[in-house]
Amino acid sequence: MLKPGDTIGILGGGQLARMMALAAAPLGLKCHIFAPEGDNPAFDVAAARTIASYEDVAALETFARSVSVVTYEFENVPARTAEILSALVEVLPNPRALETTQDRYIEKSFIRDLGLAVPDFVPVDSLESLTAAVAQLGRPSVLKTRRFGYDGKGQAMIKSETDLADAWSVIGQSPAILEQFIPFEREVSVVAARNTVGAVVTYDVAENRHTHHILAETTLPAHISAETERAAKEAASRIGAALAYVGVFAVEFFVVGSGENEQLLVNEIAPRVHNSGHWTLGGAETSQFEQHIRAIASWPLGSAKRLGRIEMRNLIGADSDQWLDFVTEPGLHVHLYGKAENRAGRKMGHLTRVLP
Ligand SMILES: Nc1ncnc2c1ncn2[C@@H]1O[C@H](COP(=O)(O)OP(=O)(O)O)[C@@H](O)[C@H]1O
Ligand SMILES: [Mg+2]
Repeated sequence: MLKPGDTIGILGGGQLARMMALAAAPLGLKCHIFAPEGDNPAFDVAAARTIASYEDVAALETFARSVSVVTYEFENVPARTAEILSALVEVLPNPRALETTQDRYIEKSFIRDLGLAVPDFVPVDSLESLTAAVAQLGRPSVLKTRRFGYDGKGQAMIKSETDLADAWSVIGQSPAILEQFIPFEREVSVVAARNTVGAVVTYDVAENRHTHHILAETTLPAHISAETERAAKEAASRIGAALAYVGVFAVEFFVVGSGENEQLLVNEIAPRVHNSGHWTLGGAETSQFEQHIRAIASWPLGSAKRLGRIEMRNLIGADSDQWLDFVTEPGLHVHLYGKAENRAGRKMGHLTRVLP
């Protein structure tokens, strides 16, 4: 169990690490951020920083020896990095969560094996296997690289007119899965936390709207039945237990059908704090960031109670130029990530309104 004054190591220096470090401070915990050269907004709010590559063994070892536990803000931590750190210090969530979620084929197989519904999927490793997969699942369908995809990158829609050789080169001829296209009613997610003694808390189900594959808005409550809400939380708990997970994670779902026929399909798992949980800063009794810190410190989890109806909006690219208007609005929770460079499509901050 960590004590106030102890230091948490965080891999990654982006906004998620920044908000984790900001949440650790009121609990008397310090953070040491390890990130490669670049725009690392988490450095502004951390007690210690290491700038080095994730392959730098000496830097990783020094880092591991200077902290009480290591966590991460992104799922693509190289397996070798996790292994080097694990030999010296506890890494939480455990590296098994990384192995399972880094590869979409392994991830979807794992979820299906738990008895949870997922879109039909088939592995693809060549143009021939893509052709066979499309014959099996039909069109439209979605081709996704097994690894390193995010915000819709590494994906190609297979429509009626799509040339399969083109789609295969669009995703860089990388090992992939072909997935059935789901004409969903809405997308929802559950953010959950699990601690070292297996206690789980789940936040209410969030409804997510994407623009150009990037999360634009999250609202709560989600427009789903009480039964679907319960099933989503139950699915998240099962996934957390099966991974022996410690920390915060998110499960993304597609909601299909309506009324009596409303049904959930799991889309993916994020083994980290998640953009669809940013509303918990100001909108819940304990934020997802504090919850993650509590979990990896082996502390009791906090209350996930929601404080009202929620509207969270991401500030993408130039959206953040309106910052003065935002800070002028009474009661609006404004979070600006302090990134040095503002580019189109870049997440620069978020706003949360908590409504009665
Ligand atoms: N099988 C599918 N059917 C319909 N839409 C999909 C499907 N897979 C992905 N999408 C859309 O693309 C978005 C990004 O896909 P996702 O698999 O979550 O990858 P990422 O890792 O980029 O978030 C989803 O949130 C959803 O809007
Ligand atoms: Mg996703």
